[in-house]
Amino acid sequence: MRVTARAPAKVNMHLGVGPLRADGFHELRTVYLAVSLFDTVTVGPGEGLAVSVTGEGAGGDVPTDRRNLVWQAAELLAASAGMPADATIAVAKAIPAAAGLAGGSADAAATLVALDLLWGTRAAPGDLAGIAAQLGSDVPFSLLGGVALGRGRGEQVSPVLARRPTHWVLGIADEGLSTPAVYRELDRLREAGRVPDGAELPSTEGVIAALRNGSPAALAAALSNDLQAPAFSLRPELRRALRAATDAGASAALVSGSGPTVAALVEDEEAAVRVAAVLAGAGVFRTVRAVQGPVAGARVVA
Ligand code: C5P
Repeated sequence: MRVTARAPAKVNMHLGVGPLRADGFHELRTVYLAVSLFDTVTVGPGEGLAVSVTGEGAGGDVPTDRRNLVWQAAELLAASAGMPADATIAVAKAIPAAAGLAGGSADAAATLVALDLLWGTRAAPGDLAGIAAQLGSDVPFSLLGGVALGRGRGEQVSPVLARRPTHWVLGIADEGLSTPAVYRELDRLREAGRVPDGAELPSTEGVIAALRNGSPAALAAALSNDLQAPAFSLRPELRRALRAATDAGASAALVSGSGPTVAALVEDEEAAVRVAAVLAGAGVFRTVRAVQGPVAGARVVA
């Protein structure tokens, strides 16, 4: 028996980062959006764990041992059910690694729902969410999908209403950025007084109201990301990439999560195709993808 599950990439439409906490994480207020770019995980019987990674998002440096979040997901689910972690886990990556799109989190979330069915562990949704939170800040959202407000370090998620679908073009860079490095750079810029200190978290209300009202213009105006300044600082050419997206006709563009992916909001599906074609021709990005969201979180598909 084999079970296949898929899980979506995410974009943060709002990412407000508070000060560094004692536990090494930053307090967040974020509005997550799950978009139509998916990783697929197929699990089957095995002895011990064996992980393989293929696909255009794999990029060569995704580990296949315990360092991979899918391995840790399998171990935690098995431990919670009091059974051995025996499975083969084949990850087909369309979501690039270290891109600010939560690709690793998507893989972990897909692995949890796939193994839950394969092993018959029948974890309650709350149990899976608890395991997800132990795996990483974005993994609970990868399970949930849709649109959600994220609090804490991002792991406390609650659904948000979106009146209509939104369309995006993702511009994906050649080389990834390390999430901890981007957070560290934010701390450095704050200590140097070069960006606001984050003591007061910016309100998520602008983005949430725009989604509730289905207003693309209001959404475009409300997009924000506190990790954008440190991402620019580590990767100066990102400024040009953002400008390329708005020059190509996007309503607004921002860095997705810790970057370096650029998420460009466009008016509709037609605009997405047009802007994607311009950006693909501009040579600024390695890959350009037209996507839409919200889409569902991790689920079994076969
Ligand atoms: O939770 P996750 O493993 O994805 O986090 C990776 C790293 O990103 C953390 O070790 C931390 O350095 C940084 N981080 C943070 N504050 C958050 C989330 C992540 O500082 N809310």
